Amino acid sequence: MIRLGVNLDHVATLRQARRGKSPDILAAAHAAIVGGADHLVVHLREDRRHIQERDVRLLREHTTVPLSLEMAATSAMTAFAKDLKPDAVCFVPEKREELTTEGGLDVASASKELRRSVEELKGAGIAVALFVNPDEAQLVAANDLGTDAVEIHTGRYADAKTEGARIFEYLAISKTAATARALGMRVHAGHGLDYGNVARIAALSDVEELNIGFAIVARAMFTGLERAVHEMRERVARAKSEEAPLP
Ligand code: PXP
Repeated sequence: MIRLGVNLDHVATLRQARRGKSPDILAAAHAAIVGGADHLVVHLREDRRHIQERDVRLLREHTTVPLSLEMAATSAMTAFAKDLKPDAVCFVPEKREELTTEGGLDVASASKELRRSVEELKGAGIAVALFVNPDEAQLVAANDLGTDAVEIHTGRYADAKTEGARIFEYLAISKTAATARALGMRVHAGHGLDYGNVARIAALSDVEELNIGFAIVARAMFTGLERAVHEMRERVARAKSEEAPLP
């Protein structure tokens, strides 16, 4: 069964709008777990616009499912991760002015910092993934760095304006996933996935993990978080068992 990681960044976005205590990150985590999250995901950004260090520590200490930390490959973040020991780290590119993580890492021209961070975290027993665009050229470099997994950025697929463009992006994801698996890396996917577009990606047999945040938290406004996660879980499970790529 494909794993569903629920990203809680935007629970913190709402809380940070008033810099208060509500909505509570642990209450959200527990609702997500009851709804069927296999693991929790947070992105501790350098600008701390949503998730704070305290959130990550609370989640590490008080939740029962694995914790995956998205972060930039900086020495400060690597030291933080080594101390916190999340179950997994996904390295992402970070730009201060972006609304969200707009693209994958350029692993091919990987900085020394990325190489050092991957080595240090692997040495600390933390599973490491690299967030990459659906571009096979990135995979050889990712494999050379010794990463356990790649997470394929599905943003262009999700944002495609026409069905033709969406199919084009879907095929690129499918091909990248197959090549990554053939190279021995595990394959995750995420970004911009929602209740309407997730099935096609969830049905890809090479993809073993999906990480989804915004769409689930947005739906939770109307259904509650537990139900929103449950509905996503159902869609993912149905797509995988039917192996039927739905539009
Ligand atoms: N995966 C990665 C690596 C991300 O950076 C993000 C966004 O933080 C997501 C998945 C989730 O994206 P979304 O919130 O659009 O579902």
